[in-house]
Amino acid sequence: MMTNKIVLTGDRPTGHLHLGHYVGSLRNRVKLQNEYPCFVMIADVQALSDNFDNPEKVRTNVLEVCKDYLAVGLDPEKCTIFVQSSIPELFELTVYYLNLVTVSRLERNPTVKAELQQKSFADSVPAGFLTYPVSQAADITAFKAQLVPVGEDQLPVIEVSNEIVRRFNRIYNTDVLVEAEAMVGKVGRLVGIDGKAKASKSLNNAIFMSDPSDVLKQKIYGMYTDPNHIKVSDPGKVEGNVVFAYLDAFYENKEELDDLKAQYQRGGLGDMALKSLLNDTLQNLLKPIRDKRNSITADDALEVLTEGSKQARKIATQTVEEVREAIGILKF
Ligand code: TRP
Repeated sequence: MMTNKIVLTGDRPTGHLHLGHYVGSLRNRVKLQNEYPCFVMIADVQALSDNFDNPEKVRTNVLEVCKDYLAVGLDPEKCTIFVQSSIPELFELTVYYLNLVTVSRLERNPTVKAELQQKSFADSVPAGFLTYPVSQAADITAFKAQLVPVGEDQLPVIEVSNEIVRRFNRIYNTDVLVEAEAMVGKVGRLVGIDGKAKASKSLNNAIFMSDPSDVLKQKIYGMYTDPNHIKVSDPGKVEGNVVFAYLDAFYENKEELDDLKAQYQRGGLGDMALKSLLNDTLQNLLKPIRDKRNSITADDALEVLTEGSKQARKIATQTVEEVREAIGILKF
């Protein structure tokens, strides 16, 4: 008797959410909540794995991320929004799962490798960071999630989770755990406004959903385009041009966009005109989100998280019981 698939996803609360999160996964979640039971987790414990020396940052951003969620249209009536640290059952699952994955498998994970490089831990990699994919497997499996909307960079992490599920079920001869499928936004990865591979808070090249309109405008007008496109009449490059990457992600009229690209490549379309079009597009998208965000109080967010965490904990507790039984841990 198969009911609706369960959706689970999460974000590390290390800053406000930005447009990279929006195209990668938030946009999908807002749709999915109408069709599936949805769980959205603020992964404060995972955030500590590389911010253990700055718990203040993680703590304050729990509420900020919750406000971002509510502002983009996640509805607590339809999806359970909760905080990872309030579900200790997740950490019990993590310990069981740590036995089911090898150190070398974790070291080979391309996502973790890239993140480690970016954070320049050199040879003092925290074990907690190396093993975060295992704790993420606990997040996913505790809710028996089958659909996980995430950014493209998270695919290798979901793969580890599925490997753990298969091993667990095989070794303990059970079907308690369920494999999950990652769901990546159409646009995949959004480039940063500086043209670097990925929009991210730590690279300081992202547009935040909470950016005031003047900041948004400033970021758009400062975007990297084609350095050789000097006069309006010069032919310009679309490839690697950040303004076009953002128009691809947000401008709905694709036919018109194709015409603009052709015109830009031929020469005769200026960067200012393009940036103005993008500015109108993003101001229209973000204004209602920003207004809604400004109307949400800290108390509103706290209430949502308290209620959501209570609901989530019930489900995780049930799964831990099943997992203990599958392993054969004695009850006292
Ligand atoms: N690792 C994810 C990220 O950095 C956040 C996350 C934590 C997550 N737990 C999760 C995503 C469970 C999906 C499912 O974006």
